[in-house]
Amino acid sequence: MSVAFTYPAPIRFAPLPPRSSERFARRHDSGEPHGERVSTRDGRELLLRAIEPGDVAALQRCFSRLSPEDIRRRFLHAMSELPAPMAQRLCQVDPALETAFVLMDESVTPAEMRGVGRIYVDPSADNAEFSVLVERDWSRLGLGALLMQRLVDDCRRRNLCEIWGYVLLENRPMLELCRELGFVRRLLPSEPGTAQISLALGKSDKPR
Ligand SMILES: CC(C)(COP(=O)(O)OP(=O)(O)OC[C@H]1O[C@@H](n2cnc3c(N)ncnc32)[C@H](O)[C@@H]1OP(=O)(O)O)[C@@H](O)C(=O)NCCC(=O)NCCS
Repeated sequence: MSVAFTYPAPIRFAPLPPRSSERFARRHDSGEPHGERVSTRDGRELLLRAIEPGDVAALQRCFSRLSPEDIRRRFLHAMSELPAPMAQRLCQVDPALETAFVLMDESVTPAEMRGVGRIYVDPSADNAEFSVLVERDWSRLGLGALLMQRLVDDCRRRNLCEIWGYVLLENRPMLELCRELGFVRRLLPSEPGTAQISLALGKSDKPR
């Protein structure tokens, strides 16, 4: 999995420093029609695939397992539940403007969602805003990094200039993860306690 990052923009496709293959969750070549099998550092298997309209119940169950802290870190405000219309909206992506990947745990019935990563594209700015979430019992296994890598790859496929997101300054895990991936941090005077983190992407002139 190699991803190129640059910042600021003029340099193209400067590669990330090499990383140990142990750091990220690993991919299996499984021939899965709807995604790919990945295994965590501790050997658990998940299916990585695009989110589907039928994932609403799994998304709501995933939300119900989150701590108030994780909810605030993901949504940047407190929420006690994920209302059905919002869950439906989150599972119904417009492929022209959004990508959302989920990590499904099929070792249980019904299958449970252990992680979600998504981007929203702003075509006028040629960039995309990301968000990512990994359930606490599945954290620190390389899944957040895997989802972020896939989102960065998707932004490159879309030939965007930049991927960015808001992260609370207290959110050390996310800031550290993004720092490792080459993102830079900008403080927001209008939003104390929040940083905007971004990664400039080497944009190709060729259509993809
Ligand atoms: C932030 C989050 C996505 C990280 O997911 P994760 O699957 O645990 O991350 P990874 O296992 O891929 O960790 C990748 C790297 O990030 C850093 N990191 C992750 N968790 C960390 C922690 N608790 N403390 C310090 N560094 C941490 C480490 O550098 C780690 O690499 P290492 O394990 O080789 O040291 C997850 O904790 C989460 O969902 N938090 C709640 C929602 C949120 O904050 N979303 C981000 C804002 S959109």
